[in-house]
Amino acid sequence: MIEAEGLGRTFKVRGSLVHAVRDLSFTVEAGEFVGCLGPNGAGKSTTIKMLTGILAPTTGRLRVAGFDPTRRRTALARRIGVVFGQRTTLWWDLPLKDSFELVRLLYKVDRVTFRRRLDELCEVLDLSHFLRTPVRQLSLGQRMRGEVAAALLHDPPLLILDEPTIGLDVVSKAGVRDFLGALNAERGTTVLLTTHDLGDVERLCRRVVLIDHGRLAFDGTVTQLRALVPGEVTIEDAVARLYLSSRPDPRTRHPRPAPDPPSVTA
Ligand SMILES: Nc1ncnc2c1ncn2[C@@H]1O[C@H](COP(=O)(O)OP(=O)(O)OP(=O)(O)O)[C@@H](O)[C@H]1O
Ligand SMILES: [Mg+2]
Repeated sequence: MIEAEGLGRTFKVRGSLVHAVRDLSFTVEAGEFVGCLGPNGAGKSTTIKMLTGILAPTTGRLRVAGFDPTRRRTALARRIGVVFGQRTTLWWDLPLKDSFELVRLLYKVDRVTFRRRLDELCEVLDLSHFLRTPVRQLSLGQRMRGEVAAALLHDPPLLILDEPTIGLDVVSKAGVRDFLGALNAERGTTVLLTTHDLGDVERLCRRVVLIDHGRLAFDGTVTQLRALVPGEVTIEDAVARLYLSSRPDPRTRHPRPAPDPPSVTA
């Protein structure tokens, strides 16, 4: 479903080159639920923007749902759903249901299929009581459920989410998590989820891809991730150890010794 090979992206910032993503290779098979982790500024959102055709890679080869995202952005849009937790894809002043109607027109979904799909999504995401509310009046949790529904109205086989649970209370978060889990288990939708919430990862992801300084630092199961640190550790401990190991020690300004093994690509 996703094949990235030697993916790289640089930005020019005030005359100097920032390597946001470098030599990143990974694949995601159909039906997988993969978590994408990494410290702030690691290159996760840049990677997602390349996967969805928003940004062109500077180097490397990329295929998503059978397409080169940069060259076939429109064709790709019909095969993927995208949710950015930090921004809205809905129309701020319109009632949620009007936003959905615009999505229907954009994706050319016929009315009968749209009605059926919307009914299903309204039920599982509990949207019915705020369908007529303008998006700007929705709470964050309500809006996020609306965003997820909008990304899935055209029933894409691949869903890519960048921090969809950011700022949600425990109940809203559980609702979004349950929905994503069921979407993957029952409908077989492939999911790539970027998050800083390790509860999301523990509950949903079988596999984790960890990006650090734009590079792949780990690719394996949650169990393998935990096994990077000896003893009975939480996933937080293992991830913190990986993040810290790549930060310069303030006393020496050299990176701290990496954990054993320093990075694993399973
Ligand atoms: N449009 C841009 N122009 C210049 N630099 C950028 C741009 N977008 C991202 N960067 C830089 O690329 C690096 C990776 O950013 P990115 O947003 O991909 O990180 P991230 O892993 O999503 O971080 P976070 O967890 O904070 O969301 C950062 O150093 C960032 O400053
Ligand atoms: Mg980001």
